[in-house]
Amino acid sequence: MANTEARGQWQSRLGFILAAAGSAIGLGNIVFFGANAYKYGAGAFYLPYLIALFTIGIPVMIVELGLGSLTRRAFPPSLHRLAGRFGEFWGWFALVSAFLVTMYYITILSWTFGMLIGALGTLWQPEQALTAFPAVKSLPNPMGYFFDMISGWLPLAFVVIIWVANLVIILRGVSQIERINRIFLPLMWLFMLFLIVRGLTLPQGLEGLYLLFTPNFEAMKDIAIWKGAFSQIFFTLSLGFGVMTAYASYLPKDADQVGNPLIISFMNCCFEFLAGIAVFTMLFSFAIVPQASTLSMTFFVIPQGIAQMPGGMLVVQGFGVLFFVLLLLAGISSSVSLVEAPMSALIDKFGMSRRHLVPLIGGLGIMGSAAFALPFVVDPGLDSNGTLGLTLLDLIDHWAFSYGLLLGGLVECVIVGWFFGADKLRARINQHASLHLPALFDVFVKWVIPAVLIYILASSAWQEFGGIYGHNYVIKGFQPWLPVLCFLIWLAGGGLLSALLTFSREYPLQEEQL
Ligand code: ALA
Repeated sequence: MANTEARGQWQSRLGFILAAAGSAIGLGNIVFFGANAYKYGAGAFYLPYLIALFTIGIPVMIVELGLGSLTRRAFPPSLHRLAGRFGEFWGWFALVSAFLVTMYYITILSWTFGMLIGALGTLWQPEQALTAFPAVKSLPNPMGYFFDMISGWLPLAFVVIIWVANLVIILRGVSQIERINRIFLPLMWLFMLFLIVRGLTLPQGLEGLYLLFTPNFEAMKDIAIWKGAFSQIFFTLSLGFGVMTAYASYLPKDADQVGNPLIISFMNCCFEFLAGIAVFTMLFSFAIVPQASTLSMTFFVIPQGIAQMPGGMLVVQGFGVLFFVLLLLAGISSSVSLVEAPMSALIDKFGMSRRHLVPLIGGLGIMGSAAFALPFVVDPGLDSNGTLGLTLLDLIDHWAFSYGLLLGGLVECVIVGWFFGADKLRARINQHASLHLPALFDVFVKWVIPAVLIYILASSAWQEFGGIYGHNYVIKGFQPWLPVLCFLIWLAGGGLLSALLTFSREYPLQEEQL
């Protein structure tokens, strides 16, 4: 197994915190939070979100970081050390789900790159003709620009560009990841500050703020809000991806794994609330109805708000460019961590070098992300997703994201709580922690978190069997095979690959008792 020098180590605690916060702060913070908040009734969302943060988010982050610095191994090998091949299998399965999410996350970043180019000019023209969608012909911008772009082949070139950017950073290991986050993080805060000041100083901007933070206790009775809040917390804190364990494995054993997760979660959630305020103030001052779909928020609704900013074309272009650059910086600092999770796991398992793994991971990743960017038109009337790539994205997201991440979180809590012992992990973490974890932590890891996650997963699965899912996709020639195929790729493909990786070889070295 690769030793510590070969694996690399963070240069400083600050470097690690910035990198982990860079992983957490991403598209999830800037647009998905606002979209979810709107979907679930604005003021109804932030209280469940905060409850999810304290009951599940922070404890799971402590578990993931604790695992990494205790074993100093990536996610599957660290679970292997706690629960043998059973643990390792689930570690790989979580990484397969995470890699599927990574592929479409990078496709979304590629479209963001395309929108950034548009923000320099064409995006702000009033209308865009659509040759690929004969039933629609033209749409107002930026919606028209987006659909015109994704029905062409150019995004495939953008996919390659974004993947290469990620791989170049990863090739040099954690020191390079640390370096880019030292630059990206301050820039992200600065850009967000510009957006929020602009939002709050717009006429009626404060009304959006009021809407976002007025609690709506009636709407909170709906279980869907709680599901939405728990999924958002997992995604925004990069949990269930194996990322936090991989990042913590590059820390010394005596790292403060209570202080670190608290600081990282705090930075992430502050950024998320600020982004929520920026988005809501802007949209409400221009009377634009936000949309629940995260992609529409990113690519048409927020840009539509920017297009209406007073001050002329230069101001609009300036804020448009700022917004898409902010998305790219935040997105790349997250996608780098998503790619690093399987990279570190493969290094640990097969002792291969980064130089050899980069073409393998990059090749697979580019193929997957390219599939999500496929421009074939499957719905000429744009009643649903329009292109094959967008439809695939929606279907894979349904499994790998909605089920995969929560399943990853559930399995790690069960393994830590029941196989290894939550009390044992707590004792190890407390040895070096500035604040000591109370015994209540064990109750959460063993009982509360698994119970909540099992409930969410089981009730969602129950709805699937009720036949709700799948009927929305009226895709000529594909239905109902495409949803079934995507489910099989995730479950059967993921399971098979995880079993292969688990049983392909033993870990090379016996290590000290944990
Ligand atoms: N945590 C990352 C995000 O929010 C994945 O985008």
